[in-house]
Order: sequence, then structure tokens, then C-alpha cells
Amino acid sequence: MTVASRVQMIQSKHVEVNIENAPEMAIHNAVLEEFTTVGRTESSLRHLRQASSILHLVEAEGLVKEGTCYVELGAGKGQLSVFAAEAWCGEGDGSSVMLVERAALRHKRDNRLRAGAAHRLRADLAHLVLGRTPAVRDSRATVALAKHLCGVATDYALRCVVGAGDETRAAGLVMATCCHHRCELSAYVGELQELGISDEEFNIMLGVVSWATCGHGRSRRYRGETDVTDTSNDLNDSESDESSETEVNHEQRVTEEESKERKCSKPSAGLAVGGRAEVGRRAKAVVDWGRVMYLRRRGWRARLCHFVPRHVSLENVCIVATALHSDGGDQIKY
Ligand SMILES: C[S@@+](CC[C@H](N)C(=O)[O-])C[C@H]1O[C@@H](n2cnc3c(N)ncnc32)[C@H](O)[C@@H]1O
Repeated sequence: MTVASRVQMIQSKHVEVNIENAPEMAIHNAVLEEFTTVGRTESSLRHLRQASSILHLVEAEGLVKEGTCYVELGAGKGQLSVFAAEAWCGEGDGSSVMLVERAALRHKRDNRLRAGAAHRLRADLAHLVLGRTPAVRDSRATVALAKHLCGVATDYALRCVVGAGDETRAAGLVMATCCHHRCELSAYVGELQELGISDEEFNIMLGVVSWATCGHGRSRRYRGETDVTDTSNDLNDSESDESSETEVNHEQRVTEEESKERKCSKPSAGLAVGGRAEVGRRAKAVVDWGRVMYLRRRGWRARLCHFVPRHVSLENVCIVATALHSDGGDQIKY
């Protein structure tokens, strides 16, 4: 059986019926002013739609409560956190946002938030012990947010939010995943072997995930090539020379891949273009499904959700999860 048909079989058995579509909602109030500002580019409107949808999902999960620390993981310049702070961190209710980002970026949006409402932490999620950060330690609960958290960083994030036990007092999370070709078997939280996928097949799957966007598979870094979109030396917005993808070159790459998708017209791997894209989407869904299983195993209620339609972003899947009491399934109380 080919990897493509194996991915198809696994996905249709385990995922197809399990990715829901978020209900269409009006643009969230916290986002509305920016959204209606004249002269916005199409790209920035698409980001605002995504932020709006993530805010709605957090609210629909009942995760907005006083004394909560909303932690944005891989926060980039902090646009989502700024909206979260505006929506949920009023003066006197004891809530705050914490932004975790490993790159040093200029023009951070959170700079304009009032002192005490926002904390930025420059850290690599691979090494973060969330429960030991003052903002989380001093809050009554933690809600994790992520928008386009690349590849392996989502696994690091899940480990530091969920794997830390009670230390973080984690109540829930809404994490939009992306760049699945940047996942790493050694850090992946899912247990795909249980679905009948070997380590080798998992790695092959990471090579087909980019078919979803008609990209070229594993990044050049993994193929031992120099990737011009993978350094930030040419980026005005980054002060660092991070080798990882930053917000800015991610945006550039996704835009490039989206335009490639429109241009791609030749069949390959024995599949028509639409078929390749579908296999890529299925592979991405399987990777995310393993993450849902990880959460469920730890007693969380978890699911996958298309948080925006594909015309807004091809990276449109998020994990929505709520921590449950070990005694019987009530939402965590605090
Ligand atoms: C695609 S960008 C998304 C930025 C922002 N969330 C947004 O949607 O505008 C992903 C961000 O995650 C950060 N990131 C990736 N891996 C990380 C890690 N291991 N630890 C901390 N930040 C990471 C990158 O530096 C980048 O800024």
C-alpha cells in the first residue's frame, strides 16, 4: 500500500468525521476596530479573521474567567495577545496575558498594553517550565493560545501546558497548528504507532504534508540546503539570527505556497493536483489527531476544528481542549 493510500485510510478512519467547522461568527469586538480600519491589506484582514475566530473559540469553551493568565505560545509580535488582553484582561479582574516567543522582534504589539496586563518571555518552548513563570504562578488558571505555531513547537507547547501536571493549573487551550513538515518524531506527543504508523511512515507523512499547500515537502534545512526564507538576516523585523521560521518569513512562505497552489497544475506522485492536496491535508490532520489523542489520554476533552475556512488560510486547523476533573468529567473549577 502506498503512503498516500495509507494516510487516506488512517485519516478517513480516525479523523474525517472529527474535524468540525467553527460556526461563522461576526468579527470579535476586540478585533473590530482594526478590521474596519480603511486600507488594510488582504493578508492582514485574513490574520484578523483568524484572531477573531480564536477569541470566539476560547469564549465558547467557557475559558474566560477572572484571574486567568492567557499564555500565547510562539506569539511573534503579539497581535493575538493584544486582542486577548483587550477582550479579557480588564483592570481589576486579575487576568493577564503572557507572550512566549524565542525570537527577538521589533515592533511588538504588546508594548502598548498597560503594565501588569502583559508579560513577554523570550524563551524556547522546548525548555519552558510554564508553572515556574511568575505570571502563571500568580494566576488562578492558565489558558494557552497559539496561532500558527510551527511544527515541533506545537508539541513542545502541549508538553509544557499539559505535561506539567497541576503546576500550570491549565484550564484549556486553543492552538492553531501549522508547518507540519517541521514536526520531529523525537518530540512528537502523539502515539501514531497505535494507529499502525511506523516511525518511518511518520517521517514519510511529514514529507507529504506540504502537498496540502502544494509546497515542496520538508524544509530545505532538513534537506541540507540553504533556505533563504529560513534565515532572518534579511528581515527588518527580527533582531535575532534565529534559524527557525519567524512570523515574517512564515507569512512570506505561506503566501508563496498559497500562490503556488493556485499555479500548480501538473499531476505528480500518480495523483492529480487536487488529490495531492487532499492527501497532504489528510496527513496534517493525522499529525494533529495524534495530538488530540495525547490530550484525551491525559483526561482533557479535546477536538480538532477548522477555525476559519480555507480561503482565509490553508493552515486552518486548531486544537481546542479543556482540562477535565479526574473524577468524572466536569470542567476544571477554580
Ligand atoms: C508562524 S509564526 C506565528 C506568530 C504569531 N503567532 C502570529 O500568528 O502572528 C510562529 C512563531 O513561533 C515562534 N516559535 C517557533 N518555534 C518556537 C519555539 N520552539 N519556542 C518559542 N517560539 C517559537 C517563531 O519565532 C514565530 O514567531
